[in-house]
Amino acid sequence: MDSVSERIAKLKAERNAVILAHNYCLPEVQDLADKVGDSLGLSIAASETDADVIVFCGVTFMAETAKILNPEKTVLIPDDAAICSMAQMCTPSEIIEARKRNPGAEVVGYVNSTAACKAEMDVCCTSSNAVSIVSSVDSDDIVFVPDANLGAYSASRCPQKDIVLWHGFCPIHQSISVKQVEDLIRAHPGAPVIAHPECRAPVLALADDIGSTEAMIRFVRSSDKREFIVLTEVGMGHRLESECPGRVFHFPSAAVCGAMKMATPEGILSCLETMSPQVTLSPETIERARRPVERMISIH
Ligand code: 13P
Ligand code: SF4
Repeated sequence: MDSVSERIAKLKAERNAVILAHNYCLPEVQDLADKVGDSLGLSIAASETDADVIVFCGVTFMAETAKILNPEKTVLIPDDAAICSMAQMCTPSEIIEARKRNPGAEVVGYVNSTAACKAEMDVCCTSSNAVSIVSSVDSDDIVFVPDANLGAYSASRCPQKDIVLWHGFCPIHQSISVKQVEDLIRAHPGAPVIAHPECRAPVLALADDIGSTEAMIRFVRSSDKREFIVLTEVGMGHRLESECPGRVFHFPSAAVCGAMKMATPEGILSCLETMSPQVTLSPETIERARRPVERMISIH
């Protein structure tokens, strides 16, 4: 009997499928993927692939983004219960209400949101390009949904903009405390602190660099330090260790996103065998969500 990875490789060829995996996925899933990256990198990969089938290992909003960009392709997700908690913290009707309260404001929405919410946004952003997107919109008045921390961080970098923040947050990044970071700094003196902008402002204030998961890899590669304190989800350690050998990474304990661990090699095999679960979105949602997502990809 062939191994799981051999069976996946065979089915991938038969179906003309590509496997995309987020930096937070299990190491064994990252090792099976054709491309591992952050939300922006994976959206770009999804927009460029000539595969017929995309297996998206990550959370549902990421697989939905791939479908929005590729309505004609089959997008599979190994476990469709992999839902980002932050994406649940905003609804389309709340965005419509926020527009009424802030006439003339543009709605900038973090991709960590449902496709139905994206359909109500003017432009999407990821953690990688939020500051560029916020500074690029025409209006000086912005409603930023759903992540209050990423919104506040973008506002701090774009003082010319008047930004109404939402109340969403990532429970994993939100739980990283100043005390935890100070303890890590004491335990590893001299190690630069690199933080994801989903962390709270007092935590970001302790960071030497703030950026998306992909930006963290760029920071480590260009640094001559050996040890780093990494304020994000622990899955990032696998990518950092494989791409930056000889470096040592320290994470806050308990920074684990359960949803990101739901894709497994067995789940990938099963979805390629059964061609399910598939991401399905209404043509109307796809049409309305496409513009803000494409705008996001055009601004890096
Ligand atoms: P990236 O934009 O770095 O991929 O982060 C996505 C995310 O969900 C962080 O929690
Ligand atoms: Fe969502 Fe947080 Fe998990 Fe990222 S780490 S997918 S923001 S719950």
